[in-house]
Parts: sequence; structure tokens; C-alpha cells
Amino acid sequence: MKNIKFYIETIGCQMNVNDSDKMAEILSKRGCFRTEDMSQADIVIVNTCSVRFSAEHKAYSLLGRLKEQKDVNPNLIIGVAGCMAQYAAKEIKTRCKFVDFVLGARDIDLFCETISKYVPDNKEINQNRNENSEVFRYITIMRGCSNFCSYCIVPYVRGPEVSIDYNEILKEVKKACDDGIKEIILLGQNVNSYNYNGVNFTQLLQKISEIDKVKRIRFMTNHPKDLSDELIDEIATNTKICRHIHLPLQSGSNNILKAMNRKYTYEQYKTLYEKIKNKIPDINITSDIIIGFPGETDKDFQDTFNASRQLQFGGLFIFKYSPRPKTLAAKLKNTVSLETIKERHSLLLEDSNIISKKINEKYIDKTIEVLVERVNNNVAEARNSQNIKVFFDTKENLKGKTVNVKITKVLPNSMSGILQ
Ligand code: SAH
Ligand code: SF4
Ligand code: F3S
Repeated sequence: MKNIKFYIETIGCQMNVNDSDKMAEILSKRGCFRTEDMSQADIVIVNTCSVRFSAEHKAYSLLGRLKEQKDVNPNLIIGVAGCMAQYAAKEIKTRCKFVDFVLGARDIDLFCETISKYVPDNKEINQNRNENSEVFRYITIMRGCSNFCSYCIVPYVRGPEVSIDYNEILKEVKKACDDGIKEIILLGQNVNSYNYNGVNFTQLLQKISEIDKVKRIRFMTNHPKDLSDELIDEIATNTKICRHIHLPLQSGSNNILKAMNRKYTYEQYKTLYEKIKNKIPDINITSDIIIGFPGETDKDFQDTFNASRQLQFGGLFIFKYSPRPKTLAAKLKNTVSLETIKERHSLLLEDSNIISKKINEKYIDKTIEVLVERVNNNVAEARNSQNIKVFFDTKENLKGKTVNVKITKVLPNSMSGILQ
């Protein structure tokens, strides 16, 4: 029996990356091999995202290419997983008749059963699956979301927020440590509202950091309405927790924040932001902004632009508003023209890049500690505690090692330097 190769294309957030890892593990255990070359694969899984129209478009164009691949190789197995598969399974099956299976994000636990129809259990042929061991691992601590921000499809596709039993989480963390993982990244749409049997997020972090072998902990995403003083104090004093908080603002205008159902004002956000910066001086705070939410006036945009200048984020992800099925905002009339969205997007992007670059300039000539994630063509890609990517030249395979790098050059979203 020949070696079965599989390829997984992951679109969307870390939740999907995590689900793709789980699917890859199941396939590897059944004796299949992962390939990075889609054209060579016997099984292709497209793990989809629905958060913006562009993400769905990307999935459909990939499926278009896969149809051609299947025309040449009729034995090719094509599966569609993830968030789009969850709520648009019917449409996918109608538009793409060549797809073998569609498995929604909430049914990921059925993947093993689903794939067994196509792949015989053949574990003895795959001996080398742990060769390419990872440096960090995502661990999901909560599923779903119950916040219903008015623009967002996630609560509809991923279902209500559920916290996972901390005993299960601790088991997974210990397993990751045994597998040689150096960094744990805890995932949830709003980790700040974690609560399992009275154990909150701060207490969960304490439990995890008590495990000796755990060296570095990250988490995402935070919601400004739920981030507690207790958590800020924990980050400030717990040296295992990385100095990075992703704290999505979404808009600097109170009218828009209200229409988005974000449940905080810009002033409340700013107070929280300053409290974090004061208590944890070396923290890097990054954020998300949506441009062109229905009804966004020039004044609303100006408020967002000013907020970005005032707060000085270490990194800003700026998204163009995309109306999503089922959401409240999709029913709003007062839409902003694509041209205006484009214009506002590039104005803010340009300005925030200058800010982020300036913030990174404080690292120039400084020697910082980084964890190496991969080495490719003698260039190492690493990350510091603040979650900034750091590149440097090396001839050694330093993957998984913590090293010191002297920073010589900075960009808005990355830096480079010399190994010390
Ligand atoms: N739970 C996370 C985010 C999940 S989606 C949180 O609340 O931070 C990631 C980002 O995508 C969001 O922060 C938001 O900025 C953006 N986003 C979500 N829905 C969107 C939409 N309909 N159009 C454009 N951007 C959107
Ligand atoms: Fe979407 Fe809001 Fe939930 Fe984030 S908190 S996933 S933006 S509904
Ligand atoms: Fe993530 Fe996209 Fe789903 S952002 S939760 S993969 S809709």
C-alpha cells in the first residue's frame, strides 16, 4: 500500500490552526504523511473561515483549483472543514459537487470517524511523525462565543461560549511539555471570561504556571469589557507569562462602539489601556480595528484615527468591514462606500505603521532574548516575549532554543539583528 499524503490549507484564526493540527495528528496516526505541496496530495482538507467575505472567497477559489486537480486525479479526496463548513454546508455541496465531505467546526470531534471512510488504519508505516516537532502549541481553553458583537459571525458558527474543564487543559499542557513544547498559547474568543467550576482565567494561569516544565505562556484574545485588575497583577508578577496583550478596540468612536455592541466606551478602553501600561511597563499591546462599519461618519473615523495616535499600539490589524449573514449589522442600511473604506483603511494603515515602527525603535542596539521558531535557508525566525518577530542569520539549527539577539533594524511588524 502506497504512502498516503495529505495537505491541509488553513484559513482564519488560531482556532482553525489548532483544529488543523488535530486533523493532521489523526491522519498521521492513521499512517498518512503531511505534504506542503497540494498538487502531490491524495487528501486535501480546506479548513475554512467565515469572518469576512474575502475568507470565504479564498476557500471557493481554492476549491476551484482543486476541481481541476480532481479532474486529472479522480481518486483525490477533498474535505471542507471549519466555520464556513458549519453554516454553509448545503451551499458548498451544491456549488462544489466534487467535494467528498463537509465537516463543520463544531463537529471537529467527528473527524476521526469521517476520515476512516477514506483512509484505512495503517499506523505501522508512519515512523517519523514526531521528527518535525513544534516549538509552541495552541491549547483551546474555551469554545464558541456569546458576545454577539453586531458585525461578527463567530457566535453563530462556533456556538455559545463554553469553558473547558481545567483538569483537561492541565493534562494537555503537561502532554505538550512532555512532547518538548517550549511555549503554550491558550486560545479562546474571550479568554478573560473563562470560568470552569469557579476557576477564573487568572487562577487557570496560576495553575498552568505551577507546572515546572512550562516556560512561556501566551493567550488570546482579550475583551476589554472583561479584562480584570487581578489578571493585570498576575501578568505583572508572573515571569512565565509573555509581555503581550492583544486587546481589540474595533473603533475609537463611542457611537460606533455602541452600534457594534462592544459594551465599553473609548474612555473606558483608554483607562484600561493606561492601567495595563502603568502596571506592566514592558508590555506590548496590539489591537484590531474595523473600518467602514455601517454609519461610520468622517467624524467617527477621525475618532478612530486619533485613538490610534493617542494609544500608540505596538501593532494594529485593520479590517475592512464585511457584512456577514445572520449578524445584526448586516441589516443596517447606512453603509459606507467601498471607496471611502479603502481611503480610510490606507490612511490608518500608513499612520499606524509609522507608530509601530517608532515603538520598535527602542530595541535598536539592545540585546534581547528570543525563542527560535524555525530556521530556513540559514535565517532564523524567532519571537520575543512581546510577540515581535525577530530574524537573524545563523548556520546552526537553533529551533526551539532561547538565544540572545542584538537588534540592528526594525520594521512596523518585525525586527532583525545579530546572534550574540
Ligand atoms: N474574538 C476575537 C476576534 C475574532 S475575529 C475578539 O473579539 O477580539 C478577529 C477580528 O476580525 C475581530 O477583532 C474584528 O476586528 C474582525 N472582524 C470580525 N468580524 C468582522 C467583519 N464582519 N468584518 C470585518 N472585520 C471583522
Ligand atoms: Fe466576534 Fe465579538 Fe465574539 Fe470576538 S467577542 S468572536 S468579535 S462576537
Ligand atoms: Fe476563526 Fe474565522 Fe472561525 S476567525 S472562529 S476561523 S470564522
